[in-house]
Amino acid sequence: MTPRLLLALALWSGCLSCRGEEGTPSQPQVQCWAARYPVAVDCSWTLPWAPNRTTATSFIATYRLGVAAQGESRPCLQPVPETPRCSIPDIQLFSAVPYVLNVTAVHPAGARSTFVPFVPERIIKPDPPEGVRLSPLAGRQLQVQWEPPRSWPFPEIFSLKYWIRYRRHGAMHFRQVGPVEATSLILKFVRPRARYFVQVAAQDLTDSGELSDWSPPAVTLTAPGK
Ligand SMILES: *[C@@H]1O[C@H](CO)[C@@H](O)[C@H](O)[C@H]1NC(C)=O
Ligand SMILES: *[C@@H]1O[C@H](CO)[C@@H](O)[C@H](O)[C@H]1NC(C)=O
Repeated sequence: MTPRLLLALALWSGCLSCRGEEGTPSQPQVQCWAARYPVAVDCSWTLPWAPNRTTATSFIATYRLGVAAQGESRPCLQPVPETPRCSIPDIQLFSAVPYVLNVTAVHPAGARSTFVPFVPERIIKPDPPEGVRLSPLAGRQLQVQWEPPRSWPFPEIFSLKYWIRYRRHGAMHFRQVGPVEATSLILKFVRPRARYFVQVAAQDLTDSGELSDWSPPAVTLTAPGK
């Protein structure tokens, strides 16, 4: 039976939602982000449902620049067709038109496509800063140091700024400071002998996209000096 006939049968029997063997796969749910701006945009997806799990679903991922159908369609690079993710290399910066990604789930029972328009600058989200470390200093101060995320390719050209949040053990709320462009900061008036949890997040310096997730917390081991 052709996929169209199967779909018609499924519709006829009101069975699209009963997830019988006749259904086509559901639409892939796609997310794209630019943690390695401007080197690439990375996309990944999930397939909420596919018929007959014993037959692997494969995916065709293509993109074009602009919504016009005559634009040239290029492959979004996947390791293998079954991998639910792909990468678009060679991003055109500050493009006036959006990219459109087309992810098609292909299964013997049918195919379903999802279209995702995006502008790379708007989906920038760096990975969290790395190597956050704390050094107690004299005079109730605590030095926080970190490195930009290694996945961010050109921190000298596309600078990042950082937010720091910290919480004393037992305190209800975080305090937040920033943004700073340096990769270190000195917290003042920290309580002697208290433990502090400190996290750092990164954001594109020009406010494109969104803030990274917070880094895993660094914890003071020794009490800050008197
Ligand atoms: C599911 O797919 C496998 C492999 O293609 C096939 O052998 C099997 O008969 C299918 N099961 C059903 C219920 O269609
Ligand atoms: C999306 O990709 C599928 C698979 O390559 C293709 O058949 C379909 O025509 C594409 N849709 C558009 C609107 O380009």
